[in-house]
Amino acid sequence: MSNAVAEAPSAADPAIQSFLVTFTIRRFDPEKDAEPRWVDYDVELFSTDRVLDALHKIKWEVDGSLSFRRSCAHGICGSDAMRINGRNRLACKTLIKDLDISKPIYVEAIKGLPLEKDLIVDMEPFFASFREVQPFLVANSTPEKGKERVQTIADRAIFDDTTKCILCAACTSSCPVFWTDGQYFGPAAIVNAHRFIFDSRDDNADVRLDILNDKEGVWRCRTTFNCSEACPRGIEVTKAIAEVKQAVLRGRR
Ligand code: SF4
Ligand code: FES
Repeated sequence: MSNAVAEAPSAADPAIQSFLVTFTIRRFDPEKDAEPRWVDYDVELFSTDRVLDALHKIKWEVDGSLSFRRSCAHGICGSDAMRINGRNRLACKTLIKDLDISKPIYVEAIKGLPLEKDLIVDMEPFFASFREVQPFLVANSTPEKGKERVQTIADRAIFDDTTKCILCAACTSSCPVFWTDGQYFGPAAIVNAHRFIFDSRDDNADVRLDILNDKEGVWRCRTTFNCSEACPRGIEVTKAIAEVKQAVLRGRR
């Protein structure tokens, strides 16, 4: 086996084709701008690059003031949700080859949350709703000494989908109800409530269902499916919301 380290593709390598791609990014600096403004950047990229790579290139080689969040760069931390060509996606999971590069690629911050700078929004209202639904296990009993809280495979499967949430806010910030009513809990908070409401080991389902029966709770959902389409984890968000609505009416089981 060779110990050679594979080199990253280089624009100087004639065997690998690179492209000049135009990005039109909605910039906003609260210290200088009264309103956001669109700025064009031409970036040399490979088809295997992602939108996050393009943003890095712009920041590192063209304009260091471009601001955006990212951490893991691999679809796990949920910090780089943004609107790319009008659709909420994770920049680190959006490949250039999947976009139409014959036209500029539009990039802007997610909607419905206060804009702080460039592609960064204030996530606090989003996390406040998340915290409000008690996204943690509440168990009134103590397991037998030295034992775990057991659960059948079938019981675990009931909420498997909603365990996958990475709190990126792509769903909540694509919801037209959330755009017009920032008080609505939003899909992500309901998804995370679902994860515990349907957990057979949890004893606080009734409290969470009561919280979500509020006028800003599940009944604000208009089943537009924007949330399910936006979710980078493939969670059936609208289905989870429908299951919580049913549980509000009939109890969790
Ligand atoms: S449900 Fe999907 S889109 Fe919504 S916050 Fe969780 S991972 Fe993101
Ligand atoms: S940077 Fe972590 S999900 Fe994209």
